Amino acid sequence: KVIDADNLVIAPGFVDVHVHFRDPGLTYKEDIHTGANSAAKGGYTTVVCMANTKPPIDNANVLKDLVEREQSLLINVLNTANVTVGMQGKELTDFKALKEANAIGLTDDGIPIKDEKLVLEAFKKAKELDLPISLHEEDPALIGSSGVNQGAISKKIGVKGAPAIAEDVLVARDCMLALEVGNKIDIQHISSKRSVEIIELAKKMGANVYAEVTPQHIALTEEAVLTKGTMAKVNPPLRTKEDKDALIMALKKGVIDMIATDHAPHSKEEKMKSISEAPSGMIGLETALAVCITNLVKSGHLSLMQLIEKMTINPARFYNLEVGHLTEGAKADIVIFDDKQSWIVDKKDFVSKASNSPFIGEKLYGRVKYTICNGKIVYSDMQEL
Ligand code: DOR
Ligand code: ZN
Ligand code: ZN
Repeated sequence: KVIDADNLVIAPGFVDVHVHFRDPGLTYKEDIHTGANSAAKGGYTTVVCMANTKPPIDNANVLKDLVEREQSLLINVLNTANVTVGMQGKELTDFKALKEANAIGLTDDGIPIKDEKLVLEAFKKAKELDLPISLHEEDPALIGSSGVNQGAISKKIGVKGAPAIAEDVLVARDCMLALEVGNKIDIQHISSKRSVEIIELAKKMGANVYAEVTPQHIALTEEAVLTKGTMAKVNPPLRTKEDKDALIMALKKGVIDMIATDHAPHSKEEKMKSISEAPSGMIGLETALAVCITNLVKSGHLSLMQLIEKMTINPARFYNLEVGHLTEGAKADIVIFDDKQSWIVDKKDFVSKASNSPFIGEKLYGRVKYTICNGKIVYSDMQEL
């Protein structure tokens, strides 16, 4: 088959180090099939699933079953496993057994570990086994992680806001522990200006720390909850313009290495609840490229090449993955997109099971035309899968 890529951009397939496919146990929100199709439509050829499923991925048996089912998917779906048993933050899981069952890394998703000694122990074990750890840095118990930023907006709508300091203290702690141990960590969905400053310092000091930001945190601010309601409720919350600008600057400077969606599907019924009761999170795989082109490239903050780096080489490097399989004779992972084409986000076009996106109705620039994974066309703009 000949693809006419005249005037289109050809890049290695995108890599997303942070998605929630809800499989097993929460498949009314998403499952590995709909999740993988959603990723393919967004130009992704590799995604890494978080482990806050039901049951959580905290033992080799659950993981083995999942990995087996993932083999038939259109794209490469990889898995992290939980750092602690039952996501309780109390007892470490069997890292070695999880690695043998194909966990490519570990995550604290769920409840952050409060016990510093346990974090230290986890970092040491992870280093021995060469397993990167992804850290969510949200503390629901300590200060509150309501999905809405603490400030004027949360007051106005009457919800308990989540202050950035809850994130900052965990970021500082984990950066210093990682510096001490020398293991590789990813600070996930960074949202505050101070967290950016801490990570910049930790990197200068020599910590092996990577940082990721989501498209929503560089495109939106806390005011979005006033117009988008629960669709803009996310953890960590959308913050102030000052925070958003600091995140964009950090991407530009290379302090933030990766763009990851934190694709977090929830059902319509769940998102129809009140702002204090609805779950946090938004889907992102199908809009990520366009949200980033519109808010980072079109606005002049990043070159297209820099954006592609943050969505391909850098996330691949975190997990020591090969980018695109572009060597001669290999079966390539490629995305072909139009960086100029505009489109309006329409709820009925999502192939994800969920449609909890704050970008519905927005005009965005950048459209995926083809996604090729393992040498096969897994998505084409011309023909829906
Ligand atoms: O808002 C969020 N929802 N943030 C996360 O990191 C996880 C998530 C979820 O699992 O729904
Ligand atoms: Zn999170
Ligand atoms: Zn997440």
